[in-house]
Amino acid sequence: MQRREFLRFCAGGSAGAVLSLTGVSIATTAAAEPLRLRIQKARYTINGAVTQDMVSLSQDQPPPVLRMKQHEPFVVHVTNDLEDYTAMHWHGIRVPNKMDGVPYLTQWPIARKETWRYAFTPEDAGTYWYHPHCMTMEQMARGLTGVLIVEERESVGFDTETIVNLRDFRLGEDSQFIKFFSPRMAARSGTLGTVMTANWKQNPVYEHQTGALVRLRLVATDVTRIYKLFATGEHGKVIAIDGHPVRDTVAWPTDVAPHIMGPGQRIELAIKMPDREGAEVVITHQSGQAPRPLVTLRSVGAPLKRNLKDLHTLPANPVPEPDLKSAEVVEFVFGWTPQSMKPNNGYCGSLGYTFWSIDRKPWPGDAADGTKPLAELKLGRSYILRLRNESPNAHPIHLHGLTFRPIRSNQRNLPSNWTDTALLLKNETIDIALVASNPGDWAFHCHVIEHQKTGLAGFIRVS
Ligand code: C2O
Ligand code: CU
Ligand code: CU
Repeated sequence: MQRREFLRFCAGGSAGAVLSLTGVSIATTAAAEPLRLRIQKARYTINGAVTQDMVSLSQDQPPPVLRMKQHEPFVVHVTNDLEDYTAMHWHGIRVPNKMDGVPYLTQWPIARKETWRYAFTPEDAGTYWYHPHCMTMEQMARGLTGVLIVEERESVGFDTETIVNLRDFRLGEDSQFIKFFSPRMAARSGTLGTVMTANWKQNPVYEHQTGALVRLRLVATDVTRIYKLFATGEHGKVIAIDGHPVRDTVAWPTDVAPHIMGPGQRIELAIKMPDREGAEVVITHQSGQAPRPLVTLRSVGAPLKRNLKDLHTLPANPVPEPDLKSAEVVEFVFGWTPQSMKPNNGYCGSLGYTFWSIDRKPWPGDAADGTKPLAELKLGRSYILRLRNESPNAHPIHLHGLTFRPIRSNQRNLPSNWTDTALLLKNETIDIALVASNPGDWAFHCHVIEHQKTGLAGFIRVS
C-alpha cells in the first residue's frame, strides 16, 4: 500500500483522527534518519565500585531498549569502536538472511571503525533482544546484550510497562571482570556469573500506581544462567513467551513451580499491582540456597481500580502453521564431542577448546572452510525437527530466522507456544515443528555461549 492510500484508508475509518496520526508517524519513521549505534567501551557501577572495560552502546549506560513497530521498516547503522571485530544479531526476529548478523555465514565481521547497515521489517510483535555474534563470549560477558521490543499496531490496554534485562556479570571482589569461563565448567553446565543483575542493577525497585495494570517483560540475556523464576504477591497472568503471545496457557510461576527460562528466552507477565500502597510484587530466582530477588515492583499513590479483564488479548503473530501430516522428520543429537580439535574462529574469537557437538561433529569454527549445513530444508515445506540431548546438561537450542513450536517431549508436557529456543533438559528429546518459510543459512546452536563456542553450533539451510 502506498503512503497516500494508507492515509486515505485511515481517514475513512471510524477512528479516523487517531489512525491518521498513526499514518503520519509511519511516514515520518520510514523517511527518518537510520538509528546509529556505536559499540564501544563502557564503565558502570554494578557492585559498589566502577567496573571498567565493559562493552555497551554508550560509555556509561547499559545497552538501550530498541523499539520498533510491527510491519514498519527499521534501519540501523552499527559502528564498531572496539579493537576487536564484531557483528550484530537480532535474536528471535525473522529477518532476511543477509541481516542476521552471523559472521562468515551471512556477513563479514565488522572491523574497527567500520559501519554495517542492517535493515529489516519485523513481521512479529513482541519481546526480542540483540547481541553480537562475533567475539560473542567476550562482548556479551562485558555487557553487550540489549532488549528489542516490537510494538503491536494497537494498544493492548496496559497502564505502564517495565522491561527487565536479566543477566550476570563475572566480577571479582574489586568489581573488575574475572575470567569469563573455566574449561572445566564449559565442558559441563557452563560458568555462572558472580553478580546477578536486572538492568545492570541488583534488585532494582520500579514504582507503579497502586492497582495499575503493568506489562512486565523479562529477558534472559545471560551467557549461561538458566533462571527459575517466580512472582510473589498479587497475581497476574503469563501473556507471552519468547516473543509470541501464548496459545497454550502457561501457569503463573510460583515458588514451588517456577518458570524455567534458559539463556535467550523471554517471558511477559500481565500484573495487576497490589491494591494497597507500598505493597510489592517481587520477581525471584529460585536457587539451591536462598531464593534471590531479581526485580521488585511497588505500588505507590492513589489506587487505580483496574482489572486484569480490562486487557485485550495480544494479537497472534503471522507465523505459518506447520502441516504435521506431511512434515518430514529430521533428527539432531546434541552431546559431548568424540574428537578433540583446535577450533578455527578467524576474527571472531575462540575459547580454544572443543567439548561439544551436534550429530557427533563439533563445529570447527566460524571461519572454517567447507562447513556444510546440518540439514537442508525445502522452502515452504513443513518439518519436524527431533532434538535429542544425550548429555546430562541442559541446552537451550536456538534456531535463527525461523519460528517453531514444540509438539512433544519424552519427559514432560510442554506448552506448544511459538519460540526460537527449545530448552532441552538432561537426556530430553523434544520434537519441534516449523514451516521452512525463510530462505537462507540459519545458525543453529546452544545459547550457553561456552557450549556454542566449544562445538555445539552449526547451521541449517533453507532453499
Ligand atoms: Cu541469540 Cu545465534 O543467537
Ligand atoms: Cu538468534
Ligand atoms: Cu548447551
